[in-house]
Amino acid sequence: MAYSEKVIDHYENPRNVGSFDKNDSSVVTGMVGAPACGDVMKLQLKIDANGIIEDAKFKTYGCGSAIASSSLVTEWVKGKTIEEAQAIKNTDIAEELALPPVKIHCSILAEDAIKAALEDYKSKHDK
Ligand code: FES
Ligand code: FES
Repeated sequence: MAYSEKVIDHYENPRNVGSFDKNDSSVVTGMVGAPACGDVMKLQLKIDANGIIEDAKFKTYGCGSAIASSSLVTEWVKGKTIEEAQAIKNTDIAEELALPPVKIHCSILAEDAIKAALEDYKSKHDK
């Protein structure tokens, strides 16, 4: 199966790979797995006092499409509010990367990772 050029670009030059110090109180983490294939994605967001996403990093153990999807969302979420990040849909990711139907779940993993990180934010700020 051929990967699109955008997938290959993100796969070969992934943006924002790594992790933040989890003791930093502005850092939240979303960790999700894909039941379809067993791949795992960790997304960390640094969210400032005004609820703006300052920075993002990811680590993904998975296929090229999962790595490209997570790399893309780290670029997309930077500078966004929590509400704006919440609105990112896997279909936007799949469209941007021209993912074929069998790879749609890879983009769902990236959407789920954003949602999981924002849940972590809410759980830390609601108490
Ligand atoms: Fe295993 Fe995606 S199916 S890497
Ligand atoms: Fe499973 Fe891409 S995340 S094949």
